[in-house]
Amino acid sequence: MKLIGKGVASGKIILMGEHAVVYGQPAIAMPFLATQIKAEITAAPENQLISSYYQGLLAKVPQALKNLVTLVYALQLHFADNDGLQITIESNIPAERGMGSSAAVAVAITRAYFDYQETALSEKDLLAFVNLSEKVAHGNPSGIDAAATSGPNPLYFIRGEELATFPMNIDAYLIVADTGIKGQTRQAVADVAELYQQNATIEEVIQNLGKLTKTARQEIIANQPHILGELMTKAHHCLQQLTISNTSLDQLVDVALAHGALGAKLTGGGRGGCLIALASDLTSAEKIAAAQKQAGAKNTWIQGLGGFA
Ligand code: MEV
Repeated sequence: MKLIGKGVASGKIILMGEHAVVYGQPAIAMPFLATQIKAEITAAPENQLISSYYQGLLAKVPQALKNLVTLVYALQLHFADNDGLQITIESNIPAERGMGSSAAVAVAITRAYFDYQETALSEKDLLAFVNLSEKVAHGNPSGIDAAATSGPNPLYFIRGEELATFPMNIDAYLIVADTGIKGQTRQAVADVAELYQQNATIEEVIQNLGKLTKTARQEIIANQPHILGELMTKAHHCLQQLTISNTSLDQLVDVALAHGALGAKLTGGGRGGCLIALASDLTSAEKIAAAQKQAGAKNTWIQGLGGFA
């Protein structure tokens, strides 16, 4: 056993397909490398967590971190480890903003724990542990957050299928803007499930989202940013129908479009959190990001989409 086990993960962005992916439709996601999380594990008399949110016994974490209790117990059971641990987390992934922070923290801890145990970790085992944690955090996770926060490649993700990477190499820039409002992924996923039961048109909306994602895939491969932008805005309208948007997200989508974005939509669980906008070049992306800040976005990031092989 090592003195210190270390693990890292990144945030993620869903370009297309959130919520519909829970129902078997495809989604396109990528790691968001501007946001990172690091976990370190050392021996301690009892299981403890040290993070910017909480410092203390793992057994006494607030409800929002209960997923980590499940994860750590599962890891310790796997190694028949009865000793205590101290987990130290350092993160610049904004929590509850649709950037996959709950999955990323689970990825980083699982990696750190296997490193601590000096044991190789397969991708399959990693995703199994993280999805266990995500079930507690999100209720019915598709697995996309676990997959997108754990690898370096963009993904074309279909629930239950082998992970397929995706050649995201399009001449465009993505602006990510944080509304500053905590998203409510668990509640949003549960509310869509209820809508789905009650209202027959919801299945159609979900299928439309799936079609938009499939077309987006083709247009990315064909390097057609303008068409991709239009598909993104259409997806936002579908997500509105699923009751997943809110006033702040809608306003910031409008601001992006009014300032030259090719398209814009919420990203991730919704009901707050972040939105993404597509720009044709860096100058345009900077202009859109500045307008988002002026309209109340708490933070913005710009990620080029031409760099992924
Ligand atoms: C959350 O980042 C993405 C959702 O589609 C939920 C999931 O796929 O688990 C809203």
